[in-house]
Amino acid sequence: MLLTLCASASIAFADPQAARLRSFSIEGDAIKASLTGRPGDPARGAQLMQQRQKSLCVLCHSGPFADPHLQGTIAPSLAGVGVRLTAGQLRLRIVDMKRLNPQSIMPTYYGTLPNGRDARVAAAWRGKPILTAEEIEDLVAYLQTLR
Ligand code: HEC
Repeated sequence: MLLTLCASASIAFADPQAARLRSFSIEGDAIKASLTGRPGDPARGAQLMQQRQKSLCVLCHSGPFADPHLQGTIAPSLAGVGVRLTAGQLRLRIVDMKRLNPQSIMPTYYGTLPNGRDARVAAAWRGKPILTAEEIEDLVAYLQTLR
């Protein structure tokens, strides 16, 4: 797996449609600060992880979740990921894996396509991230418990 690490960058959203996204800073391969300024709730994160219609995580990833026979195997298993990656590393990977691997098939969960590049995004989803900042933090808190 080839990971290209980004240099430090500060993201600001000039597009008013994207203004609902909170700004965040990337340091190395991590977003160290919580997007909400608070820790997430691991129990809510565990539920979200298994929601096949919303988070979609288990379409690609396997791990210590319900219904192992329905879990995807096209992405690394998330078993033990809380040992391999820090909270900040987990956060950047869920926010936008494409910053580390532009070819990644993992969806960008906290971002929007700029106007003009969003023609194939359904109107109801334009200008909105797939998950909220709170939901990202819940997932980070849950994945840290996978040890
Ligand atoms: C369409 C498939 C797909 C979906 C859906 C998906 N991922 Fe991924 N994910 C990947 C792939 C592929 C990788 C391997 C990294 C890469 O793409 O270079 C990955 C990597 C990761 C990693 C890093 C794992 C490691 O050991 O380095 C984490 C953490 C992660 N995903 C969490 C999630 C979470 C949480 C969700 C749901 C919110 C999710 N992923 C949804 C495909 C997916």
